[in-house]
Amino acid sequence: MDLDKIIERKNTDCLKFDAVVRRGYPECILPLWVADMDFPAAPPILAALQKRIAHGVFGYSEPDPNRFFPVLERWFRERHNWQIQKDWLIQTPGVVFALAMAVKAFTNPGDAVLIQQPVYYPFSEVILDNGRRRVSSDLILKDGRYDIDFTDLERKIVENKVKLFLLCSPHNPVGRVWTRKELETVAAICHKNNVIVVADEIHEDFVWTERPHIPYASLGEAFAQQAVICTAPSKTFNLAGLQVSNIFIPDYGLRRRFHHEINAAGYSQLNTLGLIACEAAYQYGAPWLEEVKQYLCGNINFTKAFLQQHIPQIRLVEPEGTYLLWLDCRGLGLANTELEDLIIKKAGLWLDSGAIFGASGKGFQRINIACPRSVLQEALERMQKAIG
Ligand SMILES: Cc1ncc(COP(=O)(O)O)c(C=O)c1O
Repeated sequence: MDLDKIIERKNTDCLKFDAVVRRGYPECILPLWVADMDFPAAPPILAALQKRIAHGVFGYSEPDPNRFFPVLERWFRERHNWQIQKDWLIQTPGVVFALAMAVKAFTNPGDAVLIQQPVYYPFSEVILDNGRRRVSSDLILKDGRYDIDFTDLERKIVENKVKLFLLCSPHNPVGRVWTRKELETVAAICHKNNVIVVADEIHEDFVWTERPHIPYASLGEAFAQQAVICTAPSKTFNLAGLQVSNIFIPDYGLRRRFHHEINAAGYSQLNTLGLIACEAAYQYGAPWLEEVKQYLCGNINFTKAFLQQHIPQIRLVEPEGTYLLWLDCRGLGLANTELEDLIIKKAGLWLDSGAIFGASGKGFQRINIACPRSVLQEALERMQKAIG
């Protein structure tokens, strides 16, 4: 694959490029915000889609679990050392949709739901838009690395009678891949206090450390029984527009309540092409993924070296996972609005402002590096020039 090749995404109804003006940004802005990649999907996925399209009939779809499930089972067993079971699976059109369904299924209006800011902003939206109370046990940045303050986490759970915790693992935007010890400590606290954990593991296939991603439900039977695990091929294989997510809920009672909420929302069969792509991805997509990961590692190293050499005031928070880099721009000495002006107006870049991930994200910017290296270089040079 030639991942250096720039594929024109404009005029494809693409959110990243085509929504620029509609969202109030100048036409010439370079977007590196939303979490998708500028790379084409794996050839076996494209072939499976083309074959299905050639058939020409697109009625309601429901894949045969005897064929579909073993493909998923193998992926999670071989890649993540996690044994899933067929009856745990509920499919949704997206992970954020699943988070919203979990909030509705497992809490009542007014209940407190815990998150760890700075965190992917729809976590807040699904809580607040459903009339629940958001409680954050903010991650602590120390010596360039984010940690969990377990004492604060438990105190917030107890004081607010928290029933549900939305855990981001690996964490977007701070790039942490939680250790087994950290997850076990979180799990013990949640188990003791009867908190259901919804683990958003959508970034699980992008890990840069020797240490693997640990699926939350693989920590132990008791923890799995109080958990909802959200996965999807959408980030791993760049299929976000095809809208298929695989949600695993080991406990029958929780599964029933979750399923009821989906039914109440009026949602049933999934997108035909999404299902086809999902199956082909997990069955044949591994070589593509390895190549893409290698390229992304190169982009991370490129960014690190560029910042060190040309913009030392901006510090990269060392990413353990995800292709979203968290830039600590506080060294520029700017107020948050001044930083946003600098990035948007002076540098001509559309990144995600750290502030939207929570108050503790002020002074930071999130940049998506899943693009051809020359585009990344252009973005970093624009930043350098703007800073002067
Ligand atoms: C942590 C996390 N969860 C969920 C999503 C989006 O998932 P979906 O498109 O399936 O709703 C993203 C996309 O950036 C993400 O970073």
